[in-house]
Amino acid sequence: MPVRREFPPGAIETADVKEGRIEPHYVKILMRLLSAHALAEKLTAIGYEHALTTVANAEIRPAIQKNLAEERKHAKLVYHILEELGMNEARADRSMITAVKSPSFEAPRHFAERAEGEIDLVMASISLDMTGLLMIGVKRRRSTSCSRRASCAMRPSSSVRSALTRHCANGCRAQ
Ligand SMILES: [Fe+2]
Repeated sequence: MPVRREFPPGAIETADVKEGRIEPHYVKILMRLLSAHALAEKLTAIGYEHALTTVANAEIRPAIQKNLAEERKHAKLVYHILEELGMNEARADRSMITAVKSPSFEAPRHFAERAEGEIDLVMASISLDMTGLLMIGVKRRRSTSCSRRASCAMRPSSSVRSALTRHCANGCRAQ
């Protein structure tokens, strides 16, 4: 049986969620997906931060610093959306205490906790960036973050949308 999409991309506004127009189970799943996404971004940022202290090759430091800044920005944007929906960062992270120990978090967790050297940077690129692309069926590198957002029915507020637009106009990196 084909999977039916209940809400087209961008169909749900913050007010729809906050004012109870969306069924509670859908909202619960949406909040968990956003919490998981935010935490994965944060763990990836921690991994790049750690990589700055473990990667000896000075030539790739600028790329690591760029990735670190981007991942921090991604995490901030997703936490901002959660905040608008009434869930702060601490609560969102707490809701992931069990999930973060599951196999689906193995890659970002490993990168954040034990990444060392250039091999782990390559693995992070494959396991954290490429899997995001594969999951949403997008092959073009430049469009990943934007497409992932588009695959979500949640429409961020105008302040988040303009931050995302500015970010993607500057060439958002694959997730
Ligand atoms: Fe990211």
